[in-house]
Order: sequence, then C-alpha cells, then structure tokens
Amino acid sequence: MSIPADSSRTNAIDWNEASKTFDRWLPYIQPVAEALLSLADLSEGHEILDVASGTGEPSLTIARRFGSTLQITAVDGAEAMVAIANEKLRREGLSGVTFQQMKAEALAFPSNQFDRVISRFGVMLFDDSLLGLKEMRRVLKEGGTLAISVWGEFHRIQSIHLIWELIMKRLPLKERPSLPKMADLGHTGKLEALLQSAGFRQFQIRPLPLLYRFDDFETYWTITTESGTLREPLDRFTPAEQEEIKEEALQCISSFVREGKIIMENQALLANAVK
Ligand SMILES: C[S@@+](CC[C@H](N)C(=O)[O-])C[C@H]1O[C@@H](n2cnc3c(N)ncnc32)[C@H](O)[C@@H]1O
Repeated sequence: MSIPADSSRTNAIDWNEASKTFDRWLPYIQPVAEALLSLADLSEGHEILDVASGTGEPSLTIARRFGSTLQITAVDGAEAMVAIANEKLRREGLSGVTFQQMKAEALAFPSNQFDRVISRFGVMLFDDSLLGLKEMRRVLKEGGTLAISVWGEFHRIQSIHLIWELIMKRLPLKERPSLPKMADLGHTGKLEALLQSAGFRQFQIRPLPLLYRFDDFETYWTITTESGTLREPLDRFTPAEQEEIKEEALQCISSFVREGKIIMENQALLANAVK
C-alpha cells in the first residue's frame, strides 16, 4: 500500500481534473435536472442563477427548452468546468445563458436579483455550504424560489458505497478518510438545518431514487473510479492492490444484476424553498 506523505488529507476532488470525464455521469443524473426544473416552476421572463453548474447542467437543459425567453446566469468554481460548458454553448449556438467562474461563497451579484436560484449536486461540495447557501438566498428575490439537489445518506448511494467499503476495509482505522463530502448533507435533518440556518423558513425536502444501469462490470468500474469521490482513496494503493479491490467488487456485483444489466439505486434529495 502506498500511503501518501500527507495521509491526513481528506478525499478532496480536483474538479478541474474531474471535468475531463464528468460528462459520463450526465445521462444518469438527467432525471434530477427534470425534477429541479419542475420544482423551480420556470416561466418566460425569469432571471435564473445556476450555482456550481459544472459542465453546464441543468442550465443547458433549460436553455434548450426555453431559448432566450428567460435569462440564465451559471457559475462554477472550476475554470475547466466553465470552459467545457462554454464550448457546448458555442457548439449548440444556444442563447440566453452565460457561464462564468465564480465561487458560491462570494456571488458577485446584487441582492434580490434572481427569480430562481438552482443547483444540481453542488451545495454539499462547497468549501462552506452554509455561506454558499446564504449567498444563494441573498441574491434571490423576495418570493423567489430556490431548487437544489444534494446526495442522500452515503449508504444509499449504492454505486459509490460498494467500492468505498471495500477500500475502507483495507485501511487501518486511523488512516481512513472521513465520509465523502458528496454525502455531507445526506444525513436526516442536515439539509433541513442548513436551509434554516441560511434563513429559509418555508421549504420542502423529498428523496428521489435514481436507478443507474450499467451494461457491464467494466463500464461500472471505469465510470465510478476514473475520477471523483473514489479516485483519491484508491490512489493510496498500488496498481496490484487496486486490481484486488476491483476483483472484490466484481464478486459483490452479482446481487445487483437484473436481466443482464447492473442496476444500482442512488438516492438524491430535492429541496425547494421560498425566500
Ligand atoms: C457534482 S458537480 C455538479 C455539476 C453540475 N451542476 C451537474 O449537476 O452536472 C459539482 C460542481 O460543483 C463545483 N463546486 C464545488 N465547490 C464549489 C464552490 N465553492 N463554488 C462553486 N462551485 C463549486 C465543482 O467545480 C463542480 O463543477
């Protein structure tokens, strides 16, 4: 096992690096974009802010559907993510949307500017989720709607949790990283408390089960481990040890096979709130 010099570091994700392969996930999480659009109840004329827009979603879905009848401003902290989103914009010739690099914790917009503020799988990843959410509330108009998604409890994110557990079993207790940031707001009551602390008084939270279908084990392994949450913990091991972990995952996967496909359930949480 090759423990990094700084073994205390947590499983931080390099989003510029992750941008290279991030789009592989888009088909799996498109149902969340649809759910957010419906929660946000968009109308022509709306001014929308999409925070942590990554390689462009859900902004691009909105722009394809509404064109320039509404105005979308999308921001993300990672330069490479913004570059990919802008490239898609140029390629598709879409209008009504702009992408720029900006941290959620310091939104460079006046208070009360946007009719809707949305974010798909961003808030739990901010360096400071509370500050980011307070900023999102600040720029929302009175009576405007916030619509966000985060991941549910970690054990309910089956496709990541399975491999994570195999990795953790091999690490001595004191070298195990804390639970991945992606699941930070999944625990019952955490998102609710955060929304309250950010100043929201009226909100609803509901789970959304997402079924991920993988054609075969190789596809599952590649998509799940090439970047993101599992990459850093896996890189603590030698290539030979990583192969052993992969073999163990293959042994476990049979319980998820239905009609020749690997089917795993990952739970998202959807929240909508009014300012
Ligand atoms: C899981 S991706 C989601 C991207 C996109 N919303 C989607 O659903 O396809 C998370 C994104 O959050 C961004 N991010 C993380 N921390 C951030 C912060 N403090 N401010 C702005 N963006 C941040 C990352 O750069 C990354 O693009």
